[in-house]
Amino acid sequence: MFFQQFCRGLPRGYQLSSRIFYDMQRATFASASGYDKGNSKDRSSTYTDNDTRRHSYVLATLTTVAGIAGAAVYSHFWGREPVYAASPEPGSVIDGLPTYSLADVSKHKTSADGIWVTYKNGVYDISDYVKNHPGGNKILLASGGDIGPYWDMYGAHKQEEIFEMLEGMRIGNIVEVEQRKQGDTTDPYSNDPKRHPALIPSSVKPFNAEPPVSLLMQDYLTPNNLFFVRNHLPVPDVNLEKFRLDIEGIGASGKKVLTLPALKTVFKKKTVTTSLQCAGNRRSDMVKIKPVKGLNWGTAAISTAEWSGASLDDVLKYCGIDLDKVDCDHVQFEGMDRGPDGTTYGASIPIEMARMLKNDIVVAYQMNGVDIPRDHGFPLRIIIPGVVGARQVKWLNKIVLSKDESSSHWQQRDYKGFNSSVDWHNVDFSKSEAIQFLPVQSAICEPVDGQALDDNEEVTVRGYAWSGGGRGIFRVDVSADGGKTWITADIQPSNQSQYKAWAWVFWEATVPLPQGSSGKVELVCKACDSQYNVQPESVEGIWNLRGCLSNAWHRISVSIPTE
Ligand code: MTE
Repeated sequence: MFFQQFCRGLPRGYQLSSRIFYDMQRATFASASGYDKGNSKDRSSTYTDNDTRRHSYVLATLTTVAGIAGAAVYSHFWGREPVYAASPEPGSVIDGLPTYSLADVSKHKTSADGIWVTYKNGVYDISDYVKNHPGGNKILLASGGDIGPYWDMYGAHKQEEIFEMLEGMRIGNIVEVEQRKQGDTTDPYSNDPKRHPALIPSSVKPFNAEPPVSLLMQDYLTPNNLFFVRNHLPVPDVNLEKFRLDIEGIGASGKKVLTLPALKTVFKKKTVTTSLQCAGNRRSDMVKIKPVKGLNWGTAAISTAEWSGASLDDVLKYCGIDLDKVDCDHVQFEGMDRGPDGTTYGASIPIEMARMLKNDIVVAYQMNGVDIPRDHGFPLRIIIPGVVGARQVKWLNKIVLSKDESSSHWQQRDYKGFNSSVDWHNVDFSKSEAIQFLPVQSAICEPVDGQALDDNEEVTVRGYAWSGGGRGIFRVDVSADGGKTWITADIQPSNQSQYKAWAWVFWEATVPLPQGSSGKVELVCKACDSQYNVQPESVEGIWNLRGCLSNAWHRISVSIPTE
């Protein structure tokens, strides 16, 4: 039974292939380098007019060079996530091309000498792309050397279309690859922790994975090793001897520093049970409408744990800061995970939110009663109940009280909402507010999508529901006829106030199956929170370019025996 459930929950094919994006780049590459002459036109027929081609050129140039130079991701492509495709990687030896040594390549670092990079056995001249790239100085980090480590860092760039463009800039072969591999300590992910084999990765470097949906409701508190993982960078290896939490900014009168033992002993231990949900949970439903850039999360980029640590309010008080009075507008949190240019992950919440939640924000060092595992922020993370996962900074080592929001990419240029008419050509991130409290959400976990039921009379449906901002769940409705008629589900008591409900609820409903159906049935659920917010009916209306906030009615299809 367990094995069957487990297998049912295993991944749907991750097919986030973005036709438009692909076509734009094909068109660009064909026109820019002559590569793929003859068949680019048929693949990109909607982009053949000059304006579109010029537009494509700019976008694809940004995209390509970011992929090629890796470090350029920081300014242009960071957080824009994979469009999965199953093509062989480039970089294998091509007969007939000149052979170069590493020393030869290293002489090509400037536009005067030509800018070369290597990837596996390939040598590439990227000078023309660099010339056209506005963030040129960062791209140069990879010049004269191997882009492999950068691509390892940003696995999201291992896309068929980028590989194709790279191969179009191919000028030769290199034969010293094996030798370099032996002493290779450059994979920034080589020290990532081991993960539970049941986790379903949506990307490996950085590691992002969700548990099989069929295991999600086995326990109310998600076991630590099955808790979904959302990393943007390699997991830092923290030296506890040296570890410090800095508190600085307005009201702190200089920098205050706390050690981990101090956090564990000076402050009363505070425990909160919260669900943590990624803004991209259920993105795979949005992808069905129109491609988006982002990891193809199913319904399990949400998990629940009991977090313990010191209350943020207590910690700030200890540093002489009164949350209610301090004259700042934002509380910023900074993590220890770093990209190649030294930038760290960071996020912030408005001061009003910190005040509203001040009894429940925890500077946490424990998850479900044990040290927080490395993937989830060891030794310290901030837990902000009811708020999107992105603000709950892991590997926390700095808190700053400021007049400004965090300047981090993930606060400014990601994790924001837009209407469905905004796409990458017209998006202006400065015009949208950062996502904080999440909207009401629910999903069916049992049966799983595509399951063949044994019975054709009725089905027992189970799932989770949760809303941000502490809003409890008043009701969950379940339908077996695509949403024409509904049954109210039983909600498992969770001992939370409806107005301060930080964690999910589990629900169950036994629903009669429609008779006379042709063997296929659509099961649907929707939740209503304690402010009477209900999930939207259609995903079309809430589609957005990053596939965030995907909370439409959850629909799955099951088959039933026909007589
Ligand atoms: N904190 C740091 N330092 N680095 C990260 O990549 N990811 C954020 C948040 N905090 C992230 C981070 C995002 S987007 C989410 S959804 C949650 O962590 C995921 O937490 P989890 O991996 O413990 O599930």
